[in-house]
Amino acid sequence: MTEFQPFVMERMMSKWENVVDVNLSESGVHPMTLGELLEMGGLELDAVADVPINYPQANGTIELRETIAAMYPGATADDVLVTVGAAEANYLALTTLLQPGDEAVIMLPNYMQVWGIAKNRGITVRECHLSEERGWALDLAELDAAATPKTKLIAVCNPNNPTGRIMTNPEMDAVVATAERAGAWLLADEVYRGAERETDEETPSFYGRYDKVLAQGSMSKAYGLPGLRIGWSVGPAQTLDDMWARHEYTTISTTALSNRLTALALSEKVRPQILARTRRYIREGFPVLEEWMKGHGDMFQIVPPQAAAIAFARYRIGTNSTELVNRLKDEQSVLIVPGDHFGLDGHLRISYGLPHDYLRDGLDRIHQALVELEAAGA
Ligand SMILES: Cc1ncc(COP(=O)(O)O)c(C=O)c1O
Repeated sequence: MTEFQPFVMERMMSKWENVVDVNLSESGVHPMTLGELLEMGGLELDAVADVPINYPQANGTIELRETIAAMYPGATADDVLVTVGAAEANYLALTTLLQPGDEAVIMLPNYMQVWGIAKNRGITVRECHLSEERGWALDLAELDAAATPKTKLIAVCNPNNPTGRIMTNPEMDAVVATAERAGAWLLADEVYRGAERETDEETPSFYGRYDKVLAQGSMSKAYGLPGLRIGWSVGPAQTLDDMWARHEYTTISTTALSNRLTALALSEKVRPQILARTRRYIREGFPVLEEWMKGHGDMFQIVPPQAAAIAFARYRIGTNSTELVNRLKDEQSVLIVPGDHFGLDGHLRISYGLPHDYLRDGLDRIHQALVELEAAGA
């Protein structure tokens, strides 16, 4: 039995994100309130007063699965499994598709959930990397070499956490071709689709490009509704049924209220309003962060993120990233994520899809610590 691999970033965030004065560690935009969501739908609080505090259909209400399916050309309600966040969807995918001893190829850097579950399950993990010198483009040659006939699953995150990089269409085709050649499942974590910064065009899904795709989505990031705890997997109905059998062992179901509110959020009327809000936060927040970085001379180097509410920047001082983040937490009460959590020391992940005052407060606190470290010759 290998030693348990904790999910280091989530451990840190869950311990500290609600304790510090300023949280710049979250990867989604500033969360919406229930009132805001109802208002976008032209509804009053009464509209949800009749929702039973009950289990919904365990795999998601038909209304919600139909609404989600409509966002994926070719999918029906049977091709959707509603889960407790994308976190559960990823967990079910790995525990359903992989057995101890199997091989998986994982794109790095990444949200390290899939990597950690694979390690804990005794899966042999082969890595393929995004290249910072090439604007965080995926090294397709490395991917191709990593995938062998023994590969059962290839896991990608697009748009990527932590870099915000969006794959080009030829890159997506190359990923599919590699998966097809290996006969592997393609696990596509697509929770930042809709949170594009530079374009109004939604990042395309891998769904429909290959038959062995699981496309993972969530209300947490692009929709700013993490507290609904709703995610989903879209893929072949039989595989989803196998995942649902595991869902019964983990959470049984989401909640009736969340199913109702998610169907409202994803409705034709409300969804465009939410995505516009998300993009507004992202597009107005990034210049604040960029300006702040420029104000530090050559301290930071960044490939501007194309999507998501986070920036992954390289910094110049010699202090280790975990040490720096702990210092910021303890001395300045501001939380960001160290590059160490992605296997890339010398980098920091900072959120920016937030109200300006809050963001500036956090950045001021980081500035203060950097000035002190530089003065101490770090
Ligand atoms: C890439 C990615 N996938 C999945 C998740 C899990 O999110 P949730 O369970 O809230 O949908 C996160 C959360 O940060 C994430 O960044």
